[in-house]
Amino acid sequence: MKILVIGGGGREHTLTWKLSQSPRVEQVFCAPGNAGTESCARNVEINPENIEGLLAFAQKEKIDLTVVGPEAPLVLGIVDLFQGKGLKIFGPSRKAAALEGSKVFAKEFMNRNRIPTASFRVFSDSRAAREFLTKRGRPMVVKADGLAAGKGVVVSKNLEEAIQAVEEVMEKKVFGSAGDRLILEEILNGEEASYIGVTDGETVVPMASSQDHKAVFDGDQGPNTGGMGAYSPAPVMNEGLNVRALKEVMEPVISGMLTGEGQRYQGALYAGLMISEGEFWVLEFNCRFGDPETQPILFRLQSDLAFLLLQAVEGDLKNANVKWDPRPAVCVALCSGGYPGNYAKGKEITGLEEAGQMEDVEVFHAGTRREGKKIVTAGGRVLGVTARGKDLRTAIDRAYQACAKINFEGMHYRRDIGKKGLGR
Ligand code: AMP
Ligand code: GLY
Repeated sequence: MKILVIGGGGREHTLTWKLSQSPRVEQVFCAPGNAGTESCARNVEINPENIEGLLAFAQKEKIDLTVVGPEAPLVLGIVDLFQGKGLKIFGPSRKAAALEGSKVFAKEFMNRNRIPTASFRVFSDSRAAREFLTKRGRPMVVKADGLAAGKGVVVSKNLEEAIQAVEEVMEKKVFGSAGDRLILEEILNGEEASYIGVTDGETVVPMASSQDHKAVFDGDQGPNTGGMGAYSPAPVMNEGLNVRALKEVMEPVISGMLTGEGQRYQGALYAGLMISEGEFWVLEFNCRFGDPETQPILFRLQSDLAFLLLQAVEGDLKNANVKWDPRPAVCVALCSGGYPGNYAKGKEITGLEEAGQMEDVEVFHAGTRREGKKIVTAGGRVLGVTARGKDLRTAIDRAYQACAKINFEGMHYRRDIGKKGLGR
């Protein structure tokens, strides 16, 4: 099989790394990839949002399976485009991807399908939103409707902050038309976990559980990022919750998509859950694998990923059989100075080889670029240092030993990835 992976972050390096290990796969291409994907795929200079360019490439190279990493091409309709030309592609259609592309659609869909989620109101007028907040007199979660590169959600600490968020989204339009509508939502408290499944539209194959660390600083302080690290499994997702999330979230999504929206949901489906005292609520859906959750999850996957994704595309997941390494895995994101705000690029990275040679360690690249013989930073999240161990403690220690071997100017990372899991 020839496979094309779309995207150039840590998730995509992990996907190409895993897919290239399959005996069914002859060659993997990655568009645009990074300095890490070069070692297991051929990088192709095409932007993930240039879906016509990607189609032309897939047709020319006779790609057997395309795997879409990020949400933007899905929301633009890359799956509809490829399928219209008879090409196999892993991911949901444009309409089904609205589950991530429009938070208003997602919240209303959850209500229609009785999926537990925080109560909310939709606004298309900033004055009405301000008035509602003022009447309520307490902070709420403010969410821009459309895609905002992971920055469109503010969990406000007080009323002023909430009103300021409404202003930024609807009046200053910091996320452009993504802020034409917004949601005001009740704040939920608890512990978060990521529930990710692979589905063909009828059967959901759950991936191992995981937990992300969204805030930039230790102890979940500071602004949200794309994710500062993740580990798998997440003990907060006990057996009972895993079963309930499958029955009460994943299955209602695919059946609601099919019967209510006329869409067979095929691809990865990610539910961000808030868990408290044995109950859970869906915070958000993503129509793709998580980043950085994919790093520890696929590091533990023992089955053939290419075959699994092909089964999803071909509607054949009933027969899927997925095996996991029981050992926990931890991924620590090494980030550029200033991230998630502005940061410099082009800083030389050292120690990659030494860290990568450690047993049970894999250094997945995210924002990296080759510059002659050097590898330099090229994004906010630069590397995902991933390790496994006989228990979570060992995996954490090993991941941080590997981090200590790597350096670039301004590098920062959280020191408490996985810590919540140790407490359980
Ligand atoms: P994003 O992944 O950018 O959509 O951000 C969603 C994040 O915002 C979640 O991971 C939570 O940390 C937070 N969040 C969203 N909705 C709520 C809510 N109702 N209560 C508390 N936190 C929330
Ligand atoms: N790690 C969160 C996400 O992939 O959206």
